[in-house]
Amino acid sequence: MRMSDPSSAVEIGRVDAILEAVSFSAEQFMKVNNWELAIQQMLERLGRAAHVSRVYVFQDEMGADGILYSSQKYEWDAEGIKPQINNVELQNIPLRYRYPRWEEALKNGQPVLCIVKDLPESEQELLVAQDIKSIAIFPILVEHLHWGHIGFDDCMIEHQWSLAEMEALKAAAGIFGAAIERKRAEAALQEKNTQLAILSHQLVEIQETERRFIALELHDEIGQALTGIRLTLELGMQLPDLEETRVKIAQALKMVDALTGHVKDISHMLRPNLLDDLGLLPALLWLFENFSSQTQIQVSIQHVGISDRRFKPEVEITVYRVVQEALTNIARHSGADCAVVKTWANSHVIGVQIEDKGKGFNLNDMMIAKKAIGLTGIRERVRWLGGTMNIESSPDAGTRITAEIPLDSGSIFDCERR
Ligand SMILES: Nc1ncnc2c1ncn2[C@@H]1O[C@H](COP(=O)(O)OP(=O)(O)OP(=O)(O)O)[C@@H](O)[C@H]1O
Ligand SMILES: [Mg+2]
Repeated sequence: MRMSDPSSAVEIGRVDAILEAVSFSAEQFMKVNNWELAIQQMLERLGRAAHVSRVYVFQDEMGADGILYSSQKYEWDAEGIKPQINNVELQNIPLRYRYPRWEEALKNGQPVLCIVKDLPESEQELLVAQDIKSIAIFPILVEHLHWGHIGFDDCMIEHQWSLAEMEALKAAAGIFGAAIERKRAEAALQEKNTQLAILSHQLVEIQETERRFIALELHDEIGQALTGIRLTLELGMQLPDLEETRVKIAQALKMVDALTGHVKDISHMLRPNLLDDLGLLPALLWLFENFSSQTQIQVSIQHVGISDRRFKPEVEITVYRVVQEALTNIARHSGADCAVVKTWANSHVIGVQIEDKGKGFNLNDMMIAKKAIGLTGIRERVRWLGGTMNIESSPDAGTRITAEIPLDSGSIFDCERR
């Protein structure tokens, strides 16, 4: 490392110019939306202020072999200096093999300053080919981790850097790190916003599906039953004989009873009362009984730690909905004649798993189709509560859905024994 005496006025002027370029870059990074478009101008400012021939940014990425591979991303060249941005030799440079001491220094957050003719021959080759006489590189850290480096080549003289100049250039590297960090944060925010938009779209779809279902039920079941009751009563009114009228009224009463049962079923499906009144296990047992009698698919349950226990209402309804959707899917898609439901809870987590040995499906196809909202809907419900849901399925091997929801300390009501 070579440094010069920082006292000369020329050097003080140069430090000021570099700091001015650094502050210009910081301002640009804050101002422009896509700073990559402005980077050229920033590199030029820094290059002219530091009186060098080239300024560039390399990104250093860790390969699977644990070695840092360095690739040039941006570059500015002074007039008359040969650009290197298209030099393939400057892509994926394995630092450990080509410049082992540089790798060590950069990884430790240290700058590297060299006069090329003083380097070992193996290290000179690539630099001499670019006419470099002296080189200074400073690590760029992003979120406290090594990201890459900013470099300054001199092709005319062997540049001697003062401590003050080095500090100023280090500040330039710091500004780049901060800008990359900001870009990452913006991308993460953008991703979150996109997810939110998809989610709200899915919510609307779920709501529409439920409305469609209720409208159909009202029209097909309740509407028709009420029409039947009305006709029967009308007929009864017209009959001269009291006995015949009684028969018609008895028929109408039967229809009213059937309709009452049906309304109860619909209401239970929309919001299972049993869940509120008796808790998760009784509601699940009721669901299995109903499901089996409607579909002839047998459901066996294994449970640990959920009987006589109440959880937050949103946890109970979510577990219930997961089981309900998974069972509906088994009936609609699997071809299986039995299903196994396991559910468990301890003080930290409640889990549920629904498994069938039916046809299964290709998960990728389902993800691509994106039309089905049943599984997406329950996955989102589980996510809202901070839980995870895992779907395992493959053609002919059956399907297993596992969901786990964390229970914070306030989520379990007192053990209620009924
Ligand atoms: N247990 C299962 N066995 C076989 N295939 C299944 C099973 N569960 C889901 N699938 C497949 O995954 C797809 C997506 O399921 P999902 O529940 O999301 O939608 P859906 O049941 O088709 O429609 P809905 O939105 O009404 O629930 C199904 O269309 C089906 O192809
Ligand atoms: Mg479904």
